[in-house]
Amino acid sequence: MLVLGLETSCDETGVALYDSERGLLADALFSQIDLHRVYGGVVPELASRDHVKRMLPLIRQVLDEAGKQASDIDALAYTAGPGLVGALLVGASCAQALAFAWGVPAIGVHHMEGHLLAPMLEEQPPAFPFVALLVSGGHTQLVRVDGIGQYQLLGESLDDAAGEAFDKTAKLMGLNYPGGPEIAKLAEQGTPGRFVFPRPMTDRPELDFSFSGLKTFALNTWQQCRDSGDDLDQARRDIALAFQQAVVETLTIKCKRALKQSGLNSLVIAGGVSANKALREHLERMLGEMKGKVFYARPRFCTDNGAMIAYAGCQRLLAGQHEDLAIKVQARWPMESLPAI
Ligand SMILES: Nc1ncnc2c1ncn2[C@@H]1O[C@H](COP(=O)(O)OP(=O)(O)OP(=O)(O)O)[C@@H](O)[C@H]1O
Ligand SMILES: [Mg+2]
Repeated sequence: MLVLGLETSCDETGVALYDSERGLLADALFSQIDLHRVYGGVVPELASRDHVKRMLPLIRQVLDEAGKQASDIDALAYTAGPGLVGALLVGASCAQALAFAWGVPAIGVHHMEGHLLAPMLEEQPPAFPFVALLVSGGHTQLVRVDGIGQYQLLGESLDDAAGEAFDKTAKLMGLNYPGGPEIAKLAEQGTPGRFVFPRPMTDRPELDFSFSGLKTFALNTWQQCRDSGDDLDQARRDIALAFQQAVVETLTIKCKRALKQSGLNSLVIAGGVSANKALREHLERMLGEMKGKVFYARPRFCTDNGAMIAYAGCQRLLAGQHEDLAIKVQARWPMESLPAI
C-alpha cells in the first residue's frame, strides 16, 4: 500500500510517501521557522496561509523524488489533531480533496501517535510493549504502549511542556526561536556547577511533570547576572547548561520510575526534545544499567514531519480504518481515545 502523508499541525509543512512493502520512499519538509522567528513564536494565521502555499509543490516534489504518479497512490493520511485548527484544516482539506479526486481512502492521524511511531521508521524499530516519553513543543507525556492504539497515560506535564520550557527560557535570554537547539548548543560551553536548578516534582512518587518553575528560576538567575554586571554571554551558556541538566535529569528520573512500575526495559523517546543529545546520553546510560534499550528517530523525524504521519496512517489503513468525506480536525484530542488495531 502506497500512502501519501501530510503534516500541517503547526509550523512545518511535511509531506512523505510510505510504502508498506518497501518503507519510506521520499519525504520533504518546509519549516516556517524563519517566518515566525521575528514574533518569537508561532503566529497561527501566518502558519495556515503558508501551509496553503507549500502543500502542492511539496506533494509534487515527493512524487518526483520517488518516481511515482498520482495514480500510484493507494491512500492519504493527514494530521487531524491535536494542533492549530487553521493549520490542521489545510492538510485535512487537501488530503480529503485529493482522496475524493483520486477515488482513494483518507485517514486522519493523531499527531502524537505519529511522533510516538516515528522510531518505527528506523532500522532497528522497538517491539511492543514499551514505555514512551513524548517530549515536544506542546506535550510531555509518559505512556505505556502495548500496541498501536493501546495507550495508557502514566503521567504528563501539569503546565509547560518540556519543549515549551526550552523555548521560553531561550526567549528570556534573548535567544532565537525555537529555543531547544539554541540552549543545547550553548550548554556545551557552560560551566558545570555554576548554577544548580531544581528537579521539579521528583520528590513525589507520581509520574507527572511541572516545568514552568524552571523557567522562573532561569529568569531570576538571568536577572541576577544582569544586575551584577556579569559577562552575559557566559551567563547564557551557564544558565543553558543548568536548565538543560535539570530538564534531562527530571525526565530521566521519571522514565526510570515509569519503566520500573511497568516492569519494562524498553523506552521510546519521541518529539522535538528527543533530538537533545544530553537527554539521549542520560537515558542510554540509565537503560544500560537496566539491561534495556532506548529507541529514537533520526533527528529530522523527531520534530514534525510527514513521514511519521504517512507511517501511522498506513498502519491504520492496513487494519481497514479510514474516514468518511467530512473534514474534521481537533485542537485537543486525548491519545487514549484512539481505537486499537
Ligand atoms: N536539540 C533539542 N534540544 C531540546 N529541545 C529541542 C531540540 N530540538 C528541538 N527541540 C524542541 O522541540 C520542540 C519542537 O518539537 P515538535 O516539532 O515535536 O513540537 P511541536 O510539534 O511544536 O509540538 P507538538 O508535537 O506537541 O504539537 C521545540 O520546543 C524545540 O525547542
Ligand atoms: Mg509535533
